[in-house]
Amino acid sequence: MTGRLAGKLALITGAGAGLGAQMARRFQEEGALIVVNDLRKDAAEAVAKEVAGSAIAADVSDSAAVADMFAQVDREHGRLDILVNNAGFAFDGDPELEKRFNEIPVKQMAELAAGGPIQTHLDMAVTTSDESWLRMIDVHLNGTFYCCREGLKIMNRQNSGSILNMGSIMGTAGGGGSAAYCAAKAGILGLTRSLAREVVTRGIRVNALAPGFIDTDLTAPIQAARPFIEGATPMGRFGDTDDIAWAAVYLASDEAKFVTGQTLSPNGGYHMSQ
Ligand SMILES: NC(=O)c1ccc[n+]([C@@H]2O[C@H](COP(=O)([O-])OP(=O)(O)OC[C@H]3O[C@@H](n4cnc5c(N)ncnc54)[C@H](O)[C@@H]3O)[C@@H](O)[C@H]2O)c1
Repeated sequence: MTGRLAGKLALITGAGAGLGAQMARRFQEEGALIVVNDLRKDAAEAVAKEVAGSAIAADVSDSAAVADMFAQVDREHGRLDILVNNAGFAFDGDPELEKRFNEIPVKQMAELAAGGPIQTHLDMAVTTSDESWLRMIDVHLNGTFYCCREGLKIMNRQNSGSILNMGSIMGTAGGGGSAAYCAAKAGILGLTRSLAREVVTRGIRVNALAPGFIDTDLTAPIQAARPFIEGATPMGRFGDTDDIAWAAVYLASDEAKFVTGQTLSPNGGYHMSQ
């Protein structure tokens, strides 16, 4: 099927790689014109070129830069039909964090297999610095809010639009050792429900995606823990980027015209209730 997003203008944050980039590809195939945002200018430009769209480099946690980005979209296009708040990170290149995420679950499973008890502890919260906690909340939760606020200034004027916020199963099921990430993602789901109620009278829908473990650069550092994650996933695998991109196409499109305030969670069965 093609043309599901025909004529729509979509801004996708963090679309220089991974899930955002694949959404950009599928959105374009379905007829949307894409504005590709990323912190990394080169990455944004490369994807924009691929999807015949345009690129805006901006850090979504910088509210002034976000306001400038939406002002540019308004100037250049005069409308905004789809906003996907996807920008995010997990480990931020912290090798110590990556090491612990790989080694500790492996040790814990070995201790359990040997009859327990588990004596290796995650102990992540007690070593999380203010700076790393705040950066996580800043990019994910504050960034999503800044983009919603500026995007809605355009959508409110139109009395139409579809916003998609990127949560995670970490924000629904939780996940040990990633308090800031889980808190930020859970906050995004709450923000989604509140905004959905607020803007429903304007014909604007606000939904969230809560992916399970998907193969992207974000999950590349946790390969040692991969067998345990796959073992806990009824489908027995990580997802691919299309598992999320097609869900995004649906929620962004008019096919989802009766859907708002929802969290759609493609996760291979890892987490079945919300
Ligand atoms: N991959 C997964 O398993 C998974 C699961 C659940 C949720 N998510 C969420 O999906 C989103 C995309 O993740 P991904 O797996 O594609 O990661 P990725 O690392 O492949 O891509 C993320 C992109 O976001 C950009 N980015 C990071 N911080 C930014 C900022 N402050 N401003 C603008 N751009 C920024 C990066 O430069 C990168 O290009 C994230 O919000 C992530 O938390 C991912």
